[in-house]
Amino acid sequence: MPSNQQILLDNRPQGEAATSNFKWVTTDTPALKDGEVLVRHHYLSLDPYMRGRMNDSKSYAASQPLGEVMIGGTVGEVAESRHPKFAVGDKVVGMGGWQQYSVVDGNAPGMLRKVDTTHVPLSHYLGAVGMPGVTAWYGLVRIIAPKAGETVVVSAATGAVGSAFAALAKARGCRVVGIAGGPDKCKYATEELGFDACIDHREHGDLKSMSKALKEACPNGIDGHFENVGGYILDAVLLRANAFARVAVCGMIAGYDGQPLPLQNPALILVNRMKIEGFIVSEHMEIWPEALKELGTLVGSGKLRPRETVAEGLAAAPEAFLGLLKGKNFGKQLVKLV
Ligand SMILES: NC(=O)c1ccc[n+]([C@@H]2O[C@H](COP(=O)([O-])OP(=O)(O)OC[C@H]3O[C@@H](n4cnc5c(N)ncnc54)[C@H](OP(=O)(O)O)[C@@H]3O)[C@@H](O)[C@H]2O)c1
Repeated sequence: MPSNQQILLDNRPQGEAATSNFKWVTTDTPALKDGEVLVRHHYLSLDPYMRGRMNDSKSYAASQPLGEVMIGGTVGEVAESRHPKFAVGDKVVGMGGWQQYSVVDGNAPGMLRKVDTTHVPLSHYLGAVGMPGVTAWYGLVRIIAPKAGETVVVSAATGAVGSAFAALAKARGCRVVGIAGGPDKCKYATEELGFDACIDHREHGDLKSMSKALKEACPNGIDGHFENVGGYILDAVLLRANAFARVAVCGMIAGYDGQPLPLQNPALILVNRMKIEGFIVSEHMEIWPEALKELGTLVGSGKLRPRETVAEGLAAAPEAFLGLLKGKNFGKQLVKLV
């Protein structure tokens, strides 16, 4: 059995996460038992939720135990199999973690899924045609539920979730406005992702300026908002929201290092008679097949062309992850392992 390089969570961050929170080890992969599959990971997904798991505080999910392999989505191929449904060479998606190989119980529900790479590249199963894409689908379709002609806004617009959101919202006839960090990301949003307008939050770094920019980009007000960031961006959206606007609260990345994110004027929720709903995509497994089908079609037909930032080799994962939390990624952040 091959040796396996792994990254463990060694200690918990105090404030900002750091590379010293992680530890690199090499172990032997154990011999397979009946029903098990050895997966060689091609790509590891880096996602903002991992920052929350590094803390030992109350959350919707259990925290990452110290001394264990960091949690993470992976795509790869079956390297050895003692399960009748998985053959060597099958392409699979799972939760293999920050390591080169994983041994998976092929009978455990939802732990390993075969994927078809004829029209969709393997890596996209960690992004647009995977958990981030389904996240965009749930917030847009089930919470915002837009009508054609309505205006919807998304923050972290060019990331894995935001870029899928744009394609899904355009397919429903919406005006789609993004908020992203920097002129390059905004140019990409309007020229390649199909956004009707994009606001650079670095150029509009306070409530007054962001609210003015939203007024210009959303002349008919905001009917739906998909929140990935929190803070003054959400305050500005509330100021420009129409009556009966809906907000899908997906992420609050501006506060993931522990910064408080107070809401300046919650009375606007009442004034605008708004619906504001948080959600966790893994709690809505019933919608995944429908969402993945639509996302796969959008990618296969070229209507959604997701961009990826790829770090090379497992050792690059901690730095790439810290960069993701600071907006250094452009599109889906991955680590290439083979
Ligand atoms: N609820 C769920 O089930 C669920 C599932 C998946 C993801 N999420 C959430 O969805 C959001 C997007 O995830 P993703 O995987 O698509 O990541 P991503 O957008 O690819 O990467 C994170 C982006 O967040 C932005 N950002 C970081 N810090 C920021 C700050 N202080 N202010 C403004 N923007 C900041 C950066 O974009 P800019 O440079 O453009 O600012 C960065 O590129 C995250 O909040 C994540 O936690 C939630």
